[in-house]
Amino acid sequence: MDKPGYIFDRDFEWQHLARFAERAGERPQLGVVTGRRRQGKTYLLEALAASTGGLYFGATQATASESLALFAEAVGGHLDSPVPPRFADWNEAVTFLYTSPSLRSAVVVVDEFPYLTDVATALPSILQREIDRGATRGSGPSLLLCGSALSVMGRLLAGNAPLRGRANLELVVRPFDYRLAARYWGIADPRLAALTHAVVGGTPAYRAYVNDDHPRDQADFDGWVLRTVLNPGTPLFLEARYQLAEEVTGMRETSLYHSVLAAVAAGNNTRGGIATHVGRKATDLTHYLHVWEDTGLLVREEDVFRSGRSRYRIAEPLIVFYEVVGRPQWGRLEAGRAEAVWSDARPRFTAQVLGPHFESLCRRWALLAEPEVFGVLPGEVGAGVVTDPTGRTQIQVDVVVFAPAQPDRPRQVLSLGEAKWGKVMTLAQVDRLRRAAQLLAGRGFDTDATRFTCYSGAGFDEQLRAAAASDERIQLVGLPDLYASG
Ligand SMILES: Nc1ncnc2c1ncn2[C@@H]1O[C@H](COP(=O)(O)OP(=O)(O)O)[C@@H](O)[C@H]1O
Ligand SMILES: [Mg+2]
Repeated sequence: MDKPGYIFDRDFEWQHLARFAERAGERPQLGVVTGRRRQGKTYLLEALAASTGGLYFGATQATASESLALFAEAVGGHLDSPVPPRFADWNEAVTFLYTSPSLRSAVVVVDEFPYLTDVATALPSILQREIDRGATRGSGPSLLLCGSALSVMGRLLAGNAPLRGRANLELVVRPFDYRLAARYWGIADPRLAALTHAVVGGTPAYRAYVNDDHPRDQADFDGWVLRTVLNPGTPLFLEARYQLAEEVTGMRETSLYHSVLAAVAAGNNTRGGIATHVGRKATDLTHYLHVWEDTGLLVREEDVFRSGRSRYRIAEPLIVFYEVVGRPQWGRLEAGRAEAVWSDARPRFTAQVLGPHFESLCRRWALLAEPEVFGVLPGEVGAGVVTDPTGRTQIQVDVVVFAPAQPDRPRQVLSLGEAKWGKVMTLAQVDRLRRAAQLLAGRGFDTDATRFTCYSGAGFDEQLRAAAASDERIQLVGLPDLYASG
């Protein structure tokens, strides 16, 4: 089954979906497709339903009886029957789905499934019953349940949930990786690609939101920002606000949820830092942090050298951009004063958005690096802080690469790296990394072959380049390397 030409990449996802569809009719199947909003789940599933002549139903926020009527309508449309079926309740609807001769070998997509379980809480158990009956009979549809509410979708298959153990496909549709995103936007210049990625990330929908407008060159970047994400006339302008509101509707203390994200975006990204920023005790924040983590928008990353210490990161660049640039000046932006807002926010964008974003691109690059880069295939990549007891200082290491852990062997550090978006790097950075390696060796890490890797968005001075040329333990990684096809 060929992937339609209009779908960019997603070869892996399509392959799994196509195989699922090809098995339809052999036996009943259950597949679950998740991923944050705007990643192209519906796009893929509609295409799949269309190319298999399957049934696609996209649920909406509606009452139980309205949803049921809409579902009956979709089934009627699919069966092309002059009189659409009528269902008294979901029990009848699901039984029909599993026993109708014309549906039992079909691919059936139920998109936005959490909207249905919101109003019909028994739906998962009803499905479980019919799936099990279908399994006994050996016939039933190939059902794909899809949803963006990650917490709801996660609970669907967890623990003792009714559908646990019944799915034979679980697919997560993620944003495009940063290199793929550059190709998707048609940007060949690595620096421009990194700048653009810091605003729109790898979320496919955002290209259509700006009618495929992309910055033509570095000089056009500011103009592009003004034409798109800061322009009240594009859907991209409201997108971050819309997504955040969607996640916390109906919750108590929504302002606290928002302040927690603002704290992280501002760089106060430890538990204590967030607490200080929002003016609460760290212990009071546990619930709020968990809720954000459940949505997939907030990610907790452990310090690789200090267990129990972690930093939070916002997973969607557009949200970071909104928190740092848009939110503080929202009124002025709505009034069309984007130019003034952007020139005022430009330094914050560089410090709070580009700096951390560049670090995370470097970690991503390191994680996907070929074995030649660090000697062996990386096992784990993260950031960490090494405490220097003599000077009572702390050395922040942006990119730490470990070899795969081996039992009863000291943890092997393949690389210690520092990332600087806007600064020409010098030997001073290597000296810091060397000092960190020394301290780590003292703590029992294997640093015998550790490389010192400098990642820069602005280049390296002559001395550092000369040192790197003669010492294979010093590595220089620039933007073209980050974007070289890996
Ligand atoms: N692989 C892709 N190739 C091209 N465009 C895509 C792709 N995935 C998503 N899009 C664009 O993003 C839009 C939103 O995707 P959608 O399927 O609605 O996301 P989701 O269902 O995950 O919220 C699509 O309408 C399409 O314009
Ligand atoms: Mg969708």
